[in-house]
Amino acid sequence: MVNETIRNILARRSIRRFHDKPVEEDKVKLIIECAFAAPSAGNSRPAHFIVVDDKKLLSSLAKAHPFGKMLERCPLAIVVCGDPTQSEQASYYWEEDCSAAMENILLAAQALDLGSVWLGVQHAPAVELAVREFLKIPPHIKVLGIAALGYPAENKDPHEGILDGKVHLNQW
Ligand SMILES: Cc1cc2nc3c(=O)[nH]c(=O)nc-3n(C[C@H](O)[C@H](O)[C@H](O)COP(=O)(O)O)c2cc1C
Repeated sequence: MVNETIRNILARRSIRRFHDKPVEEDKVKLIIECAFAAPSAGNSRPAHFIVVDDKKLLSSLAKAHPFGKMLERCPLAIVVCGDPTQSEQASYYWEEDCSAAMENILLAAQALDLGSVWLGVQHAPAVELAVREFLKIPPHIKVLGIAALGYPAENKDPHEGILDGKVHLNQW
């Protein structure tokens, strides 16, 4: 029953410590390809990705994000943005679409022996403003969040189990 994909999903944990080792370009490309493979409402695919490997920019992002200090010490970040103006579907669903893309980034990273953590931005206006400024993001584009990535320098147990009282059969 338990195959590679299931194992990968359960093994994904938030990694906040990274080795000082760059992520190979081929791996970055595969991760981005996986991000584009995420489902989106009406297949409108409103997500844009900013790959950040510039140390100064990573450091600026780390300073701007109250819970993103690991950005200072990771070799790579992918900023997931959405364009709600792209279509009517995107105007309603860009956040879900971008979240699906973000999850694919984290799972692809896990499958490629990388660690990652999702940093929320969309609901932190001051952080979003700073990210927007540092990365020259146009005003009509939204920032969903940032994935910090790199070779993991910490180990965590895989997920297991089903949470009590949170699964309902047929009716709540
Ligand atoms: C929308 C969202 C925002 C998050 N923001 C942060 C963050 O700002 N900083 C951080 O260290 N982790 C952040 N996380 C990671 C969560 O803390 C983490 O997923 C959770 O504790 C469960 O741990 P796991 O990912 O190892 O399963 C965020 C996760 C999500 C889904």
